[in-house]
Amino acid sequence: MQQNREVISQWSESAPYWEKHREIIREMFAPITQALIEDAEITGRRAVLDVATGPGEPALSIADLIGPEGKVVGTDAVPEMVEAARRERHRRGLHNASFEVAFAESLPFPANTFDAVVSRFGVMFFASPVDSVREWLRVLKPGGRIAMAVWHFAERNPFHYIVSQVVERYVDSSPPAPDSPDAFRFANPGKLQAVLSKAGVAATSERLLRFSIRASISVENFWTLRYEMSEKLRTKLAILSKQQVAELKREVIEALSAYSSDRGISFPTEVLIVSGRKEPS
Ligand SMILES: C[S@@+](CC[C@H](N)C(=O)[O-])C[C@H]1O[C@@H](n2cnc3c(N)ncnc32)[C@H](O)[C@@H]1O
Repeated sequence: MQQNREVISQWSESAPYWEKHREIIREMFAPITQALIEDAEITGRRAVLDVATGPGEPALSIADLIGPEGKVVGTDAVPEMVEAARRERHRRGLHNASFEVAFAESLPFPANTFDAVVSRFGVMFFASPVDSVREWLRVLKPGGRIAMAVWHFAERNPFHYIVSQVVERYVDSSPPAPDSPDAFRFANPGKLQAVLSKAGVAATSERLLRFSIRASISVENFWTLRYEMSEKLRTKLAILSKQQVAELKREVIEALSAYSSDRGISFPTEVLIVSGRKEPS
């Protein structure tokens, strides 16, 4: 499918940067991982699937939590992401975690395999979120839990808008087509919950998670991380002259300084956590 191919090629280019910044990303998004663990009711002895794991999160954090009696499998459509996840698993000696290349819509597991399925910032990029969630239900055991994290509105998240407001002054950008793959595709409360219900998930719920994204890095290093993590930003800046990029960077860093202290950066953040379960048989 054309849409899938485009998403894959974009994420392949981003994989080395997500691996490079893995520790900071883990630190920044740790409260979201914690919310997914709570809403998916993950404890030891559980078999957990993390879909669209990227370079391995939240799968690796969950592997740490559940210990040797549980197991975690992370899947991602992009081989470079899966290789990065496997390298980290190996480096940390986490024998209860494994990683497979797979599209969210077509998983290489038998029915009724997992106690929980989680996904952090993945579903907004899938060609068919409803078909993907149906596939997750197939591999879930009866009574098993699903929990996903998606961004709330961009204007509630300075992590995004501080940079994009400046970039928009330099590069014309049209809004994404309705329901196309995009970070804010499920920002509207209720939209992802309706997808879960349509796919057949029972007892769905949604909660707004408010927290602070924190990282012990300078604004300069945060700019580098934001720019490198985002294929959209890299593409937009590629058409600017060196002088324009330097000016843009100066403006972004000035705007970011309001969120910086000697302990690092801190942004108020809003994310939706949407969850439910497979009907018990
Ligand atoms: C924003 S990253 C999230 C990575 C990780 N879950 C995290 O929170 O750090 C989105 C991931 O979704 C993956 N992805 C996009 N479309 C996919 C699909 N159809 N099936 C599986 N993975 C997909 C990308 O390769 C990328 O690794």
